[in-house]
Amino acid sequence: MEYRELVIILDFGSQYTQLIARRVRECGVYCEILPYNTPLGVIAGKFPKAIIMSGGPASLTVRKSPVCEPGIFDLGAPILGICYGMQLEGRFLGGRISRAEKREYGFAELDQKKASALFTGIPRRFSVWMSHGDRVTRPPKGFEIIAGTPNSRIAAMENREKKIYGVQFHPEVAHTPLGGKIFKNFLYDICGCSRIWNMRSFINDAIAGIRETVGDKKVLCALSGGVDSSVLSVLLNKAVGKRSVCIFVDNGLLRKGERELVIRKFRNYYKINLRAVDAESIFLKKLRGVTDPEKKRKIIGREFIRVFEKEAKKAGAVKFLAQGTLYPDLIESRSAFGGPSATIKTHHNVGGLPKKMNLKLLEPFKYLFKDEVRLLGKELGLPDEIVWRHPFPGPGLAVRVIGEVTKERLDLLREADWVLIDEIKKAAYYRKVWQAFCVLLPVKSVGVMGDERTYENVIAIRVITSIDGMTADWARMPEDLLTRISNRIINEVRGINRVVYDISSKPPATIEWE
Ligand code: XMP
Repeated sequence: MEYRELVIILDFGSQYTQLIARRVRECGVYCEILPYNTPLGVIAGKFPKAIIMSGGPASLTVRKSPVCEPGIFDLGAPILGICYGMQLEGRFLGGRISRAEKREYGFAELDQKKASALFTGIPRRFSVWMSHGDRVTRPPKGFEIIAGTPNSRIAAMENREKKIYGVQFHPEVAHTPLGGKIFKNFLYDICGCSRIWNMRSFINDAIAGIRETVGDKKVLCALSGGVDSSVLSVLLNKAVGKRSVCIFVDNGLLRKGERELVIRKFRNYYKINLRAVDAESIFLKKLRGVTDPEKKRKIIGREFIRVFEKEAKKAGAVKFLAQGTLYPDLIESRSAFGGPSATIKTHHNVGGLPKKMNLKLLEPFKYLFKDEVRLLGKELGLPDEIVWRHPFPGPGLAVRVIGEVTKERLDLLREADWVLIDEIKKAAYYRKVWQAFCVLLPVKSVGVMGDERTYENVIAIRVITSIDGMTADWARMPEDLLTRISNRIINEVRGINRVVYDISSKPPATIEWE
């Protein structure tokens, strides 16, 4: 896809690089993240409207620290260096940088020293977030100091003529409240970008792109009912109509009403060419007697591929497989920093499919963030009920029935989960949390109902807040809401006599119990 205005973000390994990209996109400007060592020719060939150099964990005071090609500064595109990016400007353009005696970390009060286009409309003194060890101690020739903090004499600098700017602080994080304004000043006033990146323009480009790639061939898509695959199916249908075939596998591990919802929405309402496969008995048979979480995942992943392949054959000759891969997946998989971490859980969804079936991959969302897919869904007319769904794991309820997975136990869990979600939605709490679900424990406990002793199952409730699922905290739900949930589950779901609330954060716990 070609965008008339492209901002390039050079990634020097900062944990905030993706945030920079999101800030830029929020300004209505399209951007891409490239590794710091991308050859100059590649960067120049993209005719960037601006270049932003991210922060990073390395120090320029030691040898072998990551650097870009110095020719970047001669391309003529305006540059904003953030933290490590600003130090690179110091290093390459003739300034001096040195290691600070102590790291500066946290809030700082910034004082503007001189009027700069970067700070138009921002008070003389404002709050910023610092996180750095090294600093620029003498600006390069042609640069002027535009702001300082008590700790950093040179907290921001500019070469107005060459449009090269450097900030020692992090305008991309929420802790710099006026950061958004700084990006706007840089992108609109300094670089002359206009707000042409929005979901409407993305839809038109994406549809044209899909039509061109797919031609008169067919494209398959695995529809799970989650946000990404739902938006993808609707987009494909808009692009190539009946030549997109969506396969929905009911593996018997889904939430209550899920299958009906998917059929109602996608086949009946959106008129998508949908094949719904009832594979409950196959999956449950394969899962019989299995208690190990990773074994469950393997079996479910393998069976999914088998069922999908079989169903796909019925669709005739197919050339493409569309997947809802998002930008963060892409960036993580090619990151020049931080190697792969230990496998805590294998999150395979449709991973092995394209190779096995000899299909070409189509990934229309590979430059989008999750919240942009949601905006795209809204733009395509999908209801909130789908656009704002919580994430649901590929192996479904199998990893929420702890121990052996049976139809009876799945049904118990489904009923309890239905009550939980119903209450959370009624209390307008659903959108406030990242995920909310029930877990069926493999223990029984004693209770008393009426005058009777009971000996029944325990449900754990897990409600968490999170930004990306990588870390999470348990939600401080209102007591009366918790009370209603507990009362209703115990009263309405036969076979459950105790409800407990999970108050562990991630790490050290994980979101799912298995
Ligand atoms: P954990 O439990 O690893 O979960 O803290 C992080 C996020 O991933 C989801 N999850 C999965 N998603 N296949 C998936 O597609 C899986 O096997 C899987 N396991 C966990 C989980 O719901 C949470 O959003």
